[in-house]
Amino acid sequence: MYQTLLKICREDMQNPWVKQILLDILQDPQYSGGFQRAPAAKVNHHAWVGGLLEHVLGLCQLAKSVFPHYPMINPDLVLAGLILHDFGKIEELESERSFDYTDKGRLIGHLIISVEIVIRKAAQIPDFPEKILHHLEHILLSHHGRLDYGSPKRPKTLEALLVHHLDDMDSKIQGFLDLVQREGENDSAWTSHNNRLFERPLYKRTLSDLAESLGGAKAGTSSSSGASASDSQTRANSKAEAKKPLTSSLGEALQKSLNSKP
Ligand SMILES: [Fe+2]
Ligand SMILES: [Fe+2]
Repeated sequence: MYQTLLKICREDMQNPWVKQILLDILQDPQYSGGFQRAPAAKVNHHAWVGGLLEHVLGLCQLAKSVFPHYPMINPDLVLAGLILHDFGKIEELESERSFDYTDKGRLIGHLIISVEIVIRKAAQIPDFPEKILHHLEHILLSHHGRLDYGSPKRPKTLEALLVHHLDDMDSKIQGFLDLVQREGENDSAWTSHNNRLFERPLYKRTLSDLAESLGGAKAGTSSSSGASASDSQTRANSKAEAKKPLTSSLGEALQKSLNSKP
């Protein structure tokens, strides 16, 4: 995974300054181990060892898919911003025994820690352009989007705006799936409401719910007739599937249901 990230910097980034500072940071042994271990959050989303790297790689793929739609946006700054936006979490959160906040994390926070790292690295590169540094700093400082969410600046460039929205989307979608996964082992169709990310109960869709809403299509089967499998086995599979929370994508479930129509 780390090699994939380095490849994105080497092959997708055009600006030599952006490419160099990213590679200098990612290949620095002081940070590379921590960045591969860090969770993306304490609880809310991607809260597992290596979760931050997974989140960042997913964001880079998402960004590359929308670049053709926004040709006026600078892709190098967006990719650099996505890779570095939560970089400070390697020092904000523990990743060894628990994912608790460190003293530095509580006192300074990952936005400022990320900016400090970028400023230190830029200072080691002779003649690093101040303008690029300021745009990178702005993306990192504004990625939470709102002052009351910890950003001292709101996004004021197209690149910062895109980084904020992609990050917000990916953290919320994964946060939704993680919450449903955590609370999937009870009979309620709803999650608890006391989750910090959403502060409201979320509907835990099941395949049977979805099939019902689509007009009685069978869930958990790949064909409507079921002629090739024994009926009892098919019913057992359907029952097991129906009990599972839908942590797979809605698109996948829809596709299954559509396939099962005559
Ligand atoms: Fe963040
Ligand atoms: Fe993030």
